[in-house]
Amino acid sequence: MEKILVVGAGQMGAGIAQVSAQAGFSVGLFDAFPGAAERAMEGMKKSLAKLAEKGQIQEKPEAVIARVRVFTKMDEVASLDPDLMIEAITENVEIKLKLYADLDRVLPAKTILASNTSSIPITQIGAATKRPDKVVGMHFMNPVPIMKLVEVIPGLATDPGVLATVLKTAERMGKTTIVAKDRPAFVVNRILMPLINEAFFALGEGLASAEDIDTGVRLGLNHPMGPLTLADFVGLDTCLAILEVLHKQLGEDKYRPAPVLRQYVQAGWYGKKAGRGVYVWEAGGQKK
Ligand code: 3HC
Repeated sequence: MEKILVVGAGQMGAGIAQVSAQAGFSVGLFDAFPGAAERAMEGMKKSLAKLAEKGQIQEKPEAVIARVRVFTKMDEVASLDPDLMIEAITENVEIKLKLYADLDRVLPAKTILASNTSSIPITQIGAATKRPDKVVGMHFMNPVPIMKLVEVIPGLATDPGVLATVLKTAERMGKTTIVAKDRPAFVVNRILMPLINEAFFALGEGLASAEDIDTGVRLGLNHPMGPLTLADFVGLDTCLAILEVLHKQLGEDKYRPAPVLRQYVQAGWYGKKAGRGVYVWEAGGQKK
């Protein structure tokens, strides 16, 4: 394993490209959206500068960044000759399946295709390609450079050798791995999203203010962040999408998205990335 292509330069893709480069891999970062990959590189530089300042990386940030090459055209990504592709695009099934059919066409036959999806079945993604044995889930946590876990998910057709390779690669990135079955939302989001949803039900009922709900969970349960703040970090649109998948695929009312969460998403209040979610966020990422 030497070369990793990351597809999608949002907050997760940028973090995955960063930890891959930190681990010494040659990295390609592809996003067709104009300016997205360049913005991600800026974010990576800031994150690496913080880590260097604290002595948490041994190399200079520029040396890590030098291992990352930006791509803006799908037809050019094959020139990287990647051993592994990690996709972190939006959680939309149609867009994702079309992307995988395209990647399957342009990437070398050896390339393992890993998805950072938080809720779309790996088996379904594999079926959109002619290499379902080389398709696997590799679910990182946000913020990727800080969070220690990667959840690895084999699909129905995933080759056990591919699973072993991906586990080893995540460990080389300094992550601890867990293996989850290909069931809706896997382990982490299956447990996290009902917590976040309940916080939105509580907010809608006026049980307490947003700040008090967050303080209650943060100090009462020793969580690093309250669930409403965490939802603003993850993205309210992403939380809603995951809850919809849980509700639809497991068919249980306990996963019904809270009306307030749905309404915030309808308003475009997607969280920190939009400057407004449950809370209002300044451009620098601080709560107003
Ligand atoms: N790069 C480098 N350093 C970073 C960073 C980044 N991207 N993000 C945060 N840091 C550093 C900060 O600079 C800070 O360093 P310091 O202690 O030396 O000042 C340190 O991390 C702690 O950050 P803060 O002081 O700003 O704030 P916190 O103490 O609250 O820590 C946090 C931030 C680590 C994000 C912590 O609040 C936390 O663990 N929150 C919960 C995160 C979580 O649950 N993530 C999982 C979400 S679910 C998911 O991702 C799945 C998806 O599919 C939905």
